[in-house]
Amino acid sequence: MNVILETRGLVKKFGELRALDGVDIRVPRGKITLLIGPNGSGKTTLINVVSGVYKADAGKIILDGEDITELPPYERFKRGLVRSFQVPRLFAGLAVVENTAFARYGNPGEGVISGLFRRLWRPFEEETVRRAVRMLSFTRIRHLWDRRPGELSGGQMKLLEIARVLMPDNPKVILMDEPTAGVNPTLAHEIFKFIRNMRDEYDLTFLIIEHRLDIAVDYADYAYAMAFGKVIAEGDPRDVLEHPKVIESYLGG
Ligand SMILES: Nc1ncnc2c1ncn2[C@@H]1O[C@H](COP(=O)(O)OP(=O)(O)O)[C@@H](O)[C@H]1O
Ligand SMILES: [Mg+2]
Repeated sequence: MNVILETRGLVKKFGELRALDGVDIRVPRGKITLLIGPNGSGKTTLINVVSGVYKADAGKIILDGEDITELPPYERFKRGLVRSFQVPRLFAGLAVVENTAFARYGNPGEGVISGLFRRLWRPFEEETVRRAVRMLSFTRIRHLWDRRPGELSGGQMKLLEIARVLMPDNPKVILMDEPTAGVNPTLAHEIFKFIRNMRDEYDLTFLIIEHRLDIAVDYADYAYAMAFGKVIAEGDPRDVLEHPKVIESYLGG
């Protein structure tokens, strides 16, 4: 397997709780990998530690052969590690197209915020705006370019978040936290079709936390299941879904 992102023995503690208790994953290059598991199993924490929002207490993170464990979030971002948030982090006072344009430089909360505010006082480069409009077309919300985030529906917000992950200059691995949460099944399929198209067109790798398993399974190449901070199954998405340990974990066993 051609691995682009790997964790080795990753541990993250919150007080006494081991939210990640020795997590080893190997994310295949150019594929869509799902990360599943019941509430509280450590999925979001894994993405937070991989993207650098939280520092690992032990273990290693390897991106494309480079040990990034000690790098700050922005350095990981510069190396092509891009993430979306379950609750998008947007500038409420800025238009959709501006929020999209900003995503080229990183996410609020990744240590780039001061740089972003400096940029607020001068216009975006024309190329950045053109690219933002192209990405909004791609996700079919271009007509909303001048709205404020507060005026968007939940589904439109999800599409905006997808447009934004394509803005950085060299995205390689995209981490997504529940890209279809709260949207109807038709739009959820649509979102996974966008993701599949992005994988094919831009040769991207996706690691996606998802609970709409019935929908996601048709689009994914590989899956990891977690419970209590540990990986309990991995492999073909359908096999992982039917794995007795995975079923048991969802039943609260
Ligand atoms: N910032 C935090 N402080 C304390 N506990 C946390 C924090 N973030 C997550 N946790 C705990 O870590 C565990 C894993 O949480 P999380 O990674 O959000 O699970 P999931 O995304 O799989 O639902 C949960 O028990 C949660 O309460
Ligand atoms: Mg979560």
